[in-house]
Amino acid sequence: MDGPSGTGKSSVSKRLARHLGAAYLDTGAMYRIATLHVLRRGTDPADADAIAATVADLPWSIGTDPEVEDIRLGGQDVREEIRGAEVTAAVSAVSAVPEVRELLVAAQQRLGLAAHRVVVEGRDIGTAVFPEADVKIFLTASAEARAQRRNAQNIAEGRGDNYDAVLASVRRRDHLDSTRAVSPLRAADDAVVVDTSDMNIDEVTAALTAVVTEQTGAAL
Ligand code: DC
Repeated sequence: MDGPSGTGKSSVSKRLARHLGAAYLDTGAMYRIATLHVLRRGTDPADADAIAATVADLPWSIGTDPEVEDIRLGGQDVREEIRGAEVTAAVSAVSAVPEVRELLVAAQQRLGLAAHRVVVEGRDIGTAVFPEADVKIFLTASAEARAQRRNAQNIAEGRGDNYDAVLASVRRRDHLDSTRAVSPLRAADDAVVVDTSDMNIDEVTAALTAVVTEQTGAAL
């Protein structure tokens, strides 16, 4: 499952994993853990060589149960911290470093292959991590719809109401993620593209469940 943030990708991926009795892997969280590690070590997020060296030693772990979010750095629970503003601002730079991607993609393949069935969400899953996946889905939505959702989430979580800043940040990250040299964000040629701008999470989940059933014959 690939696509930019704000398309409902995380919620829908988790729901789909539950429906399918599958494991769930959030690869964005992995890039966020690496970014937090870089920030904690005081490595300059603009220095690609220093980032590569810092991330070579990454004492992390991530669970694959869709019911239990288990994300650790140095044994410590970092679920909250990896979603903070500091990590979010630096994650595009860290995830653009080829050595970081190499290390994390290998770990993603290892975790994915260890599962009987797995829903993997990210930006390059269908194109680079699992090019042989049974089902590839690319979720998309207008930048405005995505910013509106993110802003509503911020309000609900007490982080304030600032639609214009959120829209600017959505556009900035879209640009960085889709123009980077290594594994830019794009739909795989054989992905089913679903535009979620005018759909709620139930509608998206129903549409994707139908896609999985149709493409794999899985009885859900
Ligand atoms: O999905 P997210 O917002 O948690 O992802 C955080 C960042 O990680 C995002 O800016 C792009 C990057 N990322 C990536 O480059 N490749 C992936 N497979 C997943 C995320």
